[in-house]
Amino acid sequence: MFLSRDSESASSKSWLGRDETMQDNLVNQTRQFRSADKESANDIGEPKTERQQVEEALRQAEQKYRNIFDNAVEGIFQTTPDGQYQTCNPALARIYGYDSPTELLENLTDIERQLYVDPQRRYEFIERLQACDSISTFESQVYRQDGSIIWISENARAVRDRDGNLLYYEGFVTDITQRKLAEQQLIQKDNLATLGKLLAGVAHEINNPVNFLCNNLPHAQEYAEELLNLLELYTKYYPQPIGEIQQQAEEIDLNFLVEDFPKTLSSIEIGANRIRQIVDSLRTVSGSDEERMQPIDIHQGIDSTLLILHHRLKPKGDHPGIAVFKEYEKLPLVECYPYRLNQVFMNLLCNAIDALDELRTQPLNLEGSYLQLTRPSIWISTEVIGSDAYPDSGSNLWVVVRIIDNGPGMTPEVKQRIFEPFFTTKPTGKGTGLGLSISYSIIVEEHGGYLKCISTPEQGTEFVIEIPVRRENVSGSLGTTGFK
Ligand SMILES: Nc1ncnc2c1ncn2[C@@H]1O[C@H](COP(=O)(O)OP(=O)(O)OP(=O)(O)O)[C@@H](O)[C@H]1O
Ligand SMILES: [Mg+2]
Repeated sequence: MFLSRDSESASSKSWLGRDETMQDNLVNQTRQFRSADKESANDIGEPKTERQQVEEALRQAEQKYRNIFDNAVEGIFQTTPDGQYQTCNPALARIYGYDSPTELLENLTDIERQLYVDPQRRYEFIERLQACDSISTFESQVYRQDGSIIWISENARAVRDRDGNLLYYEGFVTDITQRKLAEQQLIQKDNLATLGKLLAGVAHEINNPVNFLCNNLPHAQEYAEELLNLLELYTKYYPQPIGEIQQQAEEIDLNFLVEDFPKTLSSIEIGANRIRQIVDSLRTVSGSDEERMQPIDIHQGIDSTLLILHHRLKPKGDHPGIAVFKEYEKLPLVECYPYRLNQVFMNLLCNAIDALDELRTQPLNLEGSYLQLTRPSIWISTEVIGSDAYPDSGSNLWVVVRIIDNGPGMTPEVKQRIFEPFFTTKPTGKGTGLGLSISYSIIVEEHGGYLKCISTPEQGTEFVIEIPVRRENVSGSLGTTGFK
């Protein structure tokens, strides 16, 4: 009754055989039905129209089920145990990006390799069906015909003959990509919000003692200077102190102490200021998601993010650190959601560092290291440009931020897909493939800007963020979801 594969593969032969058997049975049954019909007509002289009525009822029943099959919103399938589609409805073809069930049946011939992003999922699917003959809400990531990745949920059962031999699997497929995306974004937002709160809490706790230290240091420096001046006066007017004082002065190495004390206090001052900077950075990057649009200093956001990422930039073992070069133009304050924008800087900088780390872990070349030739580097530049480049934008000025790395770059195939949710080339568990799709939505949808990527294999990658300095007709708050 359903549209079936008619290819001649070894495995499908048994299926064709099964279809032929079914057809033979049907023909036999129809013959029996007709002769019975004749007999009964002869026996009791019933009119022929009754048989026609039965046939009509059968046709209508078949049509009814075909309509359900053809018009179902869910994908419906039958597959052979070795991973070939036997039957599918138009909805399944649509979900997988094919024009028709025939196109799907002709092209999707190896479910394990062509369909599942993680082929292991197909084994799990079969294992579970072997164990309990039916599964529900089995979720997997699959490739559509154009290579994009979607999430599906399957309800399926194993169909067996009377002797318990497995004939085929059949079931339903639902596209759950939108739900998964919303879930993942919520999880990421939740994690970020938790981390943000933690950072804000830590920053708050450190802030008080650091202020205490920073506020008192100038006094300590002043008192030290006065005491040292007094000591100098003593030595000037009493060059020959009594033996006990002289002995004590030698014990504490007074000359060295007098010289080193101010330097020690200066070091403490440098350290305290550094802690203060880190605390400020933590506060800058740990904002709230329910923030309002406000004018901010973009450079402060970038610098804070860099400070937080400092541990990933410094040298490790034999490998030099990642050099960061900044070319900042004088920028006006930009109206934006600071926390969300900092998330974008964080995603782009983490990606650049990941890409450069990929090079760092490659084996050294014969001359020692290619790194001596091309030091892993990130360039960050900012500029402000007029609205001529963005007619209809409603803003007079736009700010452009470029984040460039000399990492491995991307192939055109990868570059084409980087803004797709869930697309990642990183090992399972390392990347969720959401960083750039979230960044895109923050820049384009939340800030009315552009996020562009320029990349060539072996020549590095450049991301360009362009946002208007002021946004007209934009409501103030992001609300609780953040994603619009
Ligand atoms: N600077 C870069 N250099 C080379 N490839 C990059 C760079 N930035 C992004 N990519 C490519 O784009 C893909 C998608 O990036 P995205 O930030 O969306 O996800 P991810 O980094 O893989 O995972 P996540 O950010 O969710 O942890 C990366 O897996 C990588 O292949
Ligand atoms: Mg990323």
